[in-house]
Amino acid sequence: MDYKKLISNRKSVRDYKRKSLKDEDIRELKDYVDKAKKLATDIEVEAIAMGNEVFENLNGKAGYQGFMLDAPNYIILLSEKKDNYIKNAGYIGEEIVLKALDMQIGSCWVTFNDSDLVKSNLGIESDKEVVAIIALGYDANKTKIINIHKIGENESKTKLAKVADNISERLGVEDIVYLNSWGNNATAHELENRALLNAFHYARLAPSTLNRQPWRFILDDDTVVLAVRDDEHTGTYEEEIDSGIVMLYFEAIVDATLTDITWELNHPEKNYNIPEDYVIVGYCNI
Ligand SMILES: Cc1cc2nc3c(=O)[nH]c(=O)nc-3n(C[C@H](O)[C@H](O)[C@H](O)COP(=O)(O)O)c2cc1C
Repeated sequence: MDYKKLISNRKSVRDYKRKSLKDEDIRELKDYVDKAKKLATDIEVEAIAMGNEVFENLNGKAGYQGFMLDAPNYIILLSEKKDNYIKNAGYIGEEIVLKALDMQIGSCWVTFNDSDLVKSNLGIESDKEVVAIIALGYDANKTKIINIHKIGENESKTKLAKVADNISERLGVEDIVYLNSWGNNATAHELENRALLNAFHYARLAPSTLNRQPWRFILDDDTVVLAVRDDEHTGTYEEEIDSGIVMLYFEAIVDATLTDITWELNHPEKNYNIPEDYVIVGYCNI
C-alpha cells in the first residue's frame, strides 16, 4: 500500500451512503487482518464483519457519549488478552482503515468502554475481548465533521465542528517532536537533516480520540521515544489505541523511506524525566 498517499487522504467518515459494501470487499477487509502488519505477532486477533444491526444494537452504548455512527457495515476486532493487546489492536485496526481507503471505502473508529456489553448486544460469543469497532461505508458527502482538539474545561467532550475543507486540524511537527530531552522542540530543519521529517510529518496526521493528538516524540541520537498524554478526557483503551495508530504511521513511513524499524513496547533504559501526565509507551532505534 502507498502509505503516504493513504495517510494524506484519510479522514473519518461519519455520514454514509445507504449502500452496503460488496460481499467480496467485506471478505477482503476481514481477511486483511491476517495479512496486516502487527505490533505484537504473538497475539491472536480476529475480525467479525457485521451490518447495520450494529448501529441498532449499540446506539446509546458506543461512540462519543453514546452517539453511535450509523454505517452500513462494521468490522469488530476481537483479541486475545495479552501484554500490549490494545496497542496492537490500534495498529491493526488502522491497517484496516487504510486498506479500506485503498479500496475507496470510508471508515471511522467508534469508541466504547465495555467489551462484554458490546459482545452481549451484538450476540458475539467469544473468549476474546472486543478491541475495536470500525464503521465502514461510502462517504455520503464531501464535508467533514471534526473534533476541536483544544478541550477547555467548560467545553463538552464531544463538541464537534463542521468544516468544509476536509482537513481536521493537526499540531505541527515542531510541536510534537523534542530533540534529546523533553520540552526541547525540534526544528523542521533538524529533522530534515536526520531524514526523519517525513516520518514525523505523517505520524502527526494519525487519527486520535477526540483529535487530542496526545503523542510526543523524543529524538535522542538514534532512538525515538514515544510518549502519550494520559488525561481525564480519555480512558486507557483510547490512549492505547491512539498509541498503536501513531506507531503504525511512523513505522510505515520510516520503513518506506529509510530502514525497517521495530517498536519496543517498554521503557528505554535512559530516564527522560517526562511530565506526570505523559507515559512512555515505547521506543525504536533507527
Ligand atoms: C480510538 C478512536 C476512537 C474514536 N471514536 C470515535 C467515535 O466514537 N465517534 C466519532 O465520531 N469519531 C471517533 N473517532 C474519530 C476521531 O474523532 C478522529 O479521528 C479525529 O477527530 C481526527 O479526525 P480525522 O480522523 O478526520 O482526521 C475515534 C478515533 C479514534 C482513534
